[in-house]
Amino acid sequence: MFKISFYLPTEIIFRVGAVDELEERAKKLGKKALIVTGRSSTKKTGLLQRVVDLLKKAGVESFVFDKIVPNPISDHVDEAAEIVRKEKIDFIIGLGGGSPIDSAKAISITAPNEGKFWDYVPVGGGKIPEKSIPVVAIPTTHGTGTEADPFAVITNPQTKEKVGIGYRNTFPVLSLVDPEVMKTLPKDQTAYTSMDAFYHAIEAFLNVNANPYSDVLALDAMKRIVTYLPVAYENGEDMEARTNLAWASTEAGITETLTGVIANHALEHGLSGFYPEITHGLGLCITGPYLFEYIFDHAYERLAIVGREVFGVYETDDRKAGRLAIKKLRDFQEMFGLNKRLSELGVKKEDIPKMAETGYRILNGVVVVTPGNLTAKDMEEIFNRCY
Ligand SMILES: [Fe+2]
Repeated sequence: MFKISFYLPTEIIFRVGAVDELEERAKKLGKKALIVTGRSSTKKTGLLQRVVDLLKKAGVESFVFDKIVPNPISDHVDEAAEIVRKEKIDFIIGLGGGSPIDSAKAISITAPNEGKFWDYVPVGGGKIPEKSIPVVAIPTTHGTGTEADPFAVITNPQTKEKVGIGYRNTFPVLSLVDPEVMKTLPKDQTAYTSMDAFYHAIEAFLNVNANPYSDVLALDAMKRIVTYLPVAYENGEDMEARTNLAWASTEAGITETLTGVIANHALEHGLSGFYPEITHGLGLCITGPYLFEYIFDHAYERLAIVGREVFGVYETDDRKAGRLAIKKLRDFQEMFGLNKRLSELGVKKEDIPKMAETGYRILNGVVVVTPGNLTAKDMEEIFNRCY
């Protein structure tokens, strides 16, 4: 029997033009804001300037921290936390893809407490952050779901540990999800981020703790992605496609809060912790189908539902329908060139045991909710099959 209990305190405003809400909302959050963003894209598109201007109109002084890299690192979190302490910042805006928003969350718990970010990581100091600063999320990609969950994924560049943290006080207080600002997302990022959302949804659906609430959202998110990713990939300006992909990302983000991902994310963290140049969404596409084959005996009934409801498989036998779901998923990924092998991407075979061990250890919470009781050895075997 299923159980449901959830805490989802984020106010989500989802609409074309949602960014403009910032002016009114910012007035209530304080006088000084730190905008956390990446090195270039929000400057090129003019979005950073627009946010600065909206804050100015609201009478809020803004500071910009623009060093965030893909697969963001804890050194930058600590550096920005120092700015928050020094300037007595009232709230933080995560502007961009998952990396700036996750960094904003990590900064929000580091700055008002003592020490460094790694002190608040279960595999680091393990302290619980008592205090936090409000975070506003403005996503420019449709994938991470970070606008609707408490999680922040940060890598320690010294140990190559890519951890996910999430506390009751790391939900954004406000998320402005505006499909309009996602129009400029390049083709490859359109595919990578949409597939990240797809994997949040399918992993939540296969999670041993799946429940009816997250199931509805997960299936709906997958259907929207399968329908609209090909459209947005061809024409990034198609607002119907962008809006549907943005909503798919947000609802998949809600499934992360309700249920959560499974071992595919642990595999991917093991992989990109060692190879940060491999994009999260691509990594998930490489390991996902192999994981589903590996756990097939424990997951085929649910995979059959995905096959029928998401990919239109017409097959009454669950095992056959489950196999077809994996095949259809690979076919779908092929449309965007996402079926790569680890060997093609420069991964060294001798790194696989370490990648498997690290992924298993640092994201153990998602491994244990995977059907089939996986061990670190199983994860190593899955990596070998992806090689
Ligand atoms: Fe993800």
